[in-house]
This record gives sequence, structure tokens and C-alpha cells, in this order.
Amino acid sequence: MEISIVDSAYAAHHLDRLATMLIQSVEDGAVVGFVLPFSREQSDAYWLGVFSAIAEQERLLFCATIDGQVVGTVQLYLSPEPNAPHRAEIFKLLVHRDFQGRGVGTALMLAIETEAVRLARSLLILDTVLGGAGERLYRRLGWQEIGVVPHHFVDPHGTPKASVYFMKTLDLSRDAV
Ligand SMILES: CC(C)(COP(=O)(O)OP(=O)(O)OC[C@H]1O[C@@H](n2cnc3c(N)ncnc32)[C@H](O)[C@@H]1OP(=O)(O)O)[C@@H](O)C(=O)NCCC(=O)NCCS
Repeated sequence: MEISIVDSAYAAHHLDRLATMLIQSVEDGAVVGFVLPFSREQSDAYWLGVFSAIAEQERLLFCATIDGQVVGTVQLYLSPEPNAPHRAEIFKLLVHRDFQGRGVGTALMLAIETEAVRLARSLLILDTVLGGAGERLYRRLGWQEIGVVPHHFVDPHGTPKASVYFMKTLDLSRDAV
């Protein structure tokens, strides 16, 4: 598996695959910002917004590939506020259905940490649905729970769900993970 930070041209070239991963996740009930029915047009509108954010260097898009095929992705939002030069947020960790449970999500999160250290971002924040696959993964990787927000959002079927916020502080003096 290879993990790269990709530019908007690369991402646009792999739009079909990115769309597949997002649409499958919503169909599988993942709480990733969308509800059913979720169309390819809605997915494209989302990804085109991400491509703009990459081009503006507001976000970094990481892609995991196996034999040149994108199998997972995650984003690092480089909080642009003047008072947050040390902070970044994690968005949309997605692993293709056929490649889950093989360490792709873990590898993407470790790559995010390595890059955050390189960029001197010592505080990482994310939120995820309480009780989801992401929560297990983040706890396993040492993320610290900040708290739970009841009824933070609804799942793809409209059922209310709580979220859990996590943070991780990174030692900027450490070697790359
Ligand atoms: C959550 C998600 C990103 C996890 O990705 P993943 O690639 O399956 O994650 P990993 O493979 O690194 O870890 C998942 C499990 O596989 C296990 N695993 C990792 N490598 C493995 C391997 N080589 N062999 C067997 N099991 C392995 C891990 O130990 C982990 O087990 P655990 O959950 O019991 O601790 C993925 O399920 C997904 O895309 N879900 C839909 C979208 C979503 O919910 N995203 C989170 C939004 S915050």
C-alpha cells in the first residue's frame, strides 16, 4: 500500500473512485455528512468543493493506493484561523468496502500524524459517530476523548446519533511515526 498527499488534478482523475467510496459509505449507514437518498451528483458537488479546498491549500487530501487503485482517503483541514497555527482537523476517513479491516484506515491516520508533525500542527481534533467503526480505530490509535454530543446529527436513514469528539496532541520533537 502507498499513501500520498495528492493534488487536485490527481484527485479529479480519481473522482469515480472517490465517489464510490463516499456513496458506499452512506449506503452502508456511515455517518459522514449525508443522508439517503444520496446521488452521484451530490457526491460530485462535495468532492469538487474538496478539490477547491486542496487547490487553495486549506486542506490536504491523502489517498491510499494498492496497485495504483485508490482504496482509502482522509483529509487534514489546516485550520486557517490566525489563532490556530498549531491546530488541524481530520475529515472524512473513508476506506473502500472491499479493503476494510486490512489496516488501510490505520495507515491513513498514521500518515496524517506524520504530516501534521512536519507542519508543526501539534493539536489534532476530530469527531465521529458514537459506537461506529471510526471510534474503535481512534481509541486504538491513542486519541483522547473530549466528550459526547447527544443527537449531534442523524444517520443516513434519519435516525438521531450522538457524536464523540477526540483530540490528539503530537510531540513535535519526535521522529516521524
Ligand atoms: C472506519 C474505517 C475508515 C476503518 O477503516 P479500515 O481500513 O477498515 O481500518 P483498519 O483496517 O485500519 O482497522 C479496522 C480493524 O481491522 C483490523 N485490522 C487492521 N489490519 C488488519 C489486518 N492486516 N488483518 C486483520 N485485521 C486487521 C484492526 O485491528 C481493526 O480492528 P478493530 O476495529 O477490531 O480494532 C472504515 O470502516 C470506513 O471507511 N467506514 C465507513 C466510513 C466511516 O465510518 N468513516 C469514519 C468517519 S469518522
